[in-house]
This record gives sequence, structure tokens and C-alpha cells, in this order.
Amino acid sequence: MNFSSRTDLTINSGLNDIFKTRDSQTISFAGGLPDNSLFPQKELAQAFHEVITNDDPSVFQYSAEQLLPLRDKITQKMKRYGVNAKSEDILFTQGAQQALSLAAQLLIDKGDGIVVEAPTYVGALAAFDAVEPSFYEVPVDNDGMNIDALEHILKHHEVKMIYTIPDFQNPTGVVMSTAKRKAIVELANRYDVVIVEDEAYRDLRYTGTQLPTIKQFDTQGRVIYIGSFSKILAPAMRLGWLVATPKMRADLAALKGSTDIETSSLTMHAVNDYLAANDIDQHIDEVRNIYCQKKDLMYQALAENLPEEVEFNNPEGGFFIWLKLPNNFDTEEFLDQYLLPEANVTFVPSKNLFTSKNVLNGARLNFTQPTDEQICEGCLRLGQALKNYRLPIAN
Ligand SMILES: Cc1ncc(COP(=O)(O)O)c(C=O)c1O
Repeated sequence: MNFSSRTDLTINSGLNDIFKTRDSQTISFAGGLPDNSLFPQKELAQAFHEVITNDDPSVFQYSAEQLLPLRDKITQKMKRYGVNAKSEDILFTQGAQQALSLAAQLLIDKGDGIVVEAPTYVGALAAFDAVEPSFYEVPVDNDGMNIDALEHILKHHEVKMIYTIPDFQNPTGVVMSTAKRKAIVELANRYDVVIVEDEAYRDLRYTGTQLPTIKQFDTQGRVIYIGSFSKILAPAMRLGWLVATPKMRADLAALKGSTDIETSSLTMHAVNDYLAANDIDQHIDEVRNIYCQKKDLMYQALAENLPEEVEFNNPEGGFFIWLKLPNNFDTEEFLDQYLLPEANVTFVPSKNLFTSKNVLNGARLNFTQPTDEQICEGCLRLGQALKNYRLPIAN
């Protein structure tokens, strides 16, 4: 049987590699997963219990409208981000992932241009691959997308969408500066492009001060803002949201309906009840404290164990530390041939995080899911493995 070309593209995206392990003893720095011990299990159990034992059977029914009180809570949250959204601008999705897929379906015909950061979130590339776009890569500097490179691309190519993760970028941990947030909106206005702002990690800042969202500078309704409960509550909720103009939102809702009819009403009710009964900001503060400690622990362990040729950053938030090895180093080969089989440690090699697949010397390390002991032991083993690996590490 012949399957479509987009099936191959999506299957080969590398998205599933992040769950690759050797056995139950593998220390994984690969996934982008929260810490299991931080899910507010009791409070969520209570919220779900209340929803399903409620006298109102309509929570089990299809519903024409997405739950208004929950949309109102998101509009309040967005207001704190400087975004004046109304409840009719909010669309709940099956995680941020579905929002990415819907944005690409809304904007992109085969061959249309999407600008992505290089490197970027592998799941976004998988979602975008399905609409068979032309990708244009913009390097990520220490303060976000390289704006000169972006302008050059917009000037010379037909681009319909710019995808960016401005806060604690996946995989580099980089934060886009305020000046660049303004500049990217100005460019989008000038070249008639839509910006997809993926803020899956926005609430997880550990140091420094929060910057305005890109959406805050949007005066022409050309920024689709994407948020998620995955990293602040639990990924299994599969609950994200997007903020767009009412027209865009309506079209995105129609596209969404064609694949899943609607987001689970039960989940939306349960999350709404959870938010009504609990202070999620207090929960997020607890999560941030622990993740900050884990990040510091990993940073310290890397400093103590990695050969000095390896560069890495100390991110202000998010889930990841980004490693840069010497130019001739292939992190995928190192992972497959040595790190996993010999040291039983995994990370995400850089290759699949670039659409060009030609940057081989980077690696993404996750510090939120492993335990403190795993972080220390894994970094020790990673350091030893790099020193023992048969390829010379020095240029
Ligand atoms: C940058 C980014 N966007 C979106 C997602 C998808 O998140 P969700 O679980 O909300 O679908 C992830 C997941 O890791 C991510 O890192």
C-alpha cells in the first residue's frame, strides 16, 4: 500500500526519539517532561471527582461552545500578560501541539514558506511537515531570532508564517529580547506574515524579569498566541489554548472540529474546577522553585564533569540546557554508538532540531524530569563518556 508523502515526513521527524531508552535504568535527559512528583494529584482527583459526580449529566454530552468560565479565566491570565483578549478570541486545543498543527493548516498550502528558529521544537517541525511547507531557518542568537537574517528571508521569499518560542526556547533556553519582540511584529506587519508565538514555557521563569509577550505588540491581529497547561499542571490534561482574532479563531475552530469535533468537555470542566478551588500561581511557584534547583544542580554538574571544549548555557527558565560541542562532533552518532549503549544516558541530539538537519554538534538536556541523583550521576557519566569516546573531541 502507498501511504502519503507527508506520512513519511512526519514519521521521520525524530519526535519519537525523545522517548528512546535502553532499559528501565536509563538516565534520560531527552524528554521534555515535567517532574512526576509535582503533579497536583490530589487536587486534580478532587476536581475530576466533582465533575463526574455532579448532578448535571450535560458534562458527558457534546457541547456547542467551549466552557465559558474557563475561557474567562484564560482571558484574565492573558490580561496579566498585557494581552487584551476576549473570551471569543480563545480556543482550547488538545495541548499546544494541536494549536501548532491548526495554525499550519490555516495558513500553509504545499510549498508555502514557514520561518522557524534554528534549532527549534521537534514537535513543531513534525506538525508543520504535514502541510509540506518550504522551511526557512533563522539562527537563534543569545537574545532570540537573528532579526537581520529574518528580514533577509522575508525580503527574498514568500513567507506566510513565522514560528517562534520567545520564552526559554526549546531547545536552547534562550529568551527573545523586548526589542526583538517589537521588531518581529514590525517585520510581520511590513511583509504581511502571521506570527505563531509558542509560549508553552512562559510561566516557568527562574531568574530575571518577565518580558512582554509578542502578542502584546500586535496591533493588526497577526499574532496567534499559544499557551498550555502541560508544563504548569500536567501534560495528560492535553489542554492548551490559542488566542487569535475572532475570524481566525472561528476558522481554526472549524479546522479543529474536522479532526476531533471538540476538546474534552470533562477535562475542561475539571481544569476549570481545579482553577476555581486552588491557587495555580502558588502551585507554579512551587514548581519553579524545584525546577530552578534542578537547573542549578545540572549546570553545576556539567561544569564539574564536561571537558572544557563543551559549551553550555545557564537558562533563565524552561526545561532545557543546550550543549555545543566542537564543530566536527556528531552528537547523534555519539548517542547511538557510545552514550546510550555504554553509559546508559540519553539526550536529544541536534540533527532533527534543524530542518536542514546539517547541524550535528548540539544536544538538548532536560533537567526537570530526572531526579537530583540522576542529574548528578548522568552528568558524571556524560562527562566520562565524552572523555572516553573514540572521536577526538578537540578540533
Ligand atoms: C515549545 C513547545 N511547544 C509545544 C509543546 C507541546 O505541548 P503540549 O503538551 O501542550 O501539546 C511542547 C512540548 O514539549 C513544546 O516544548
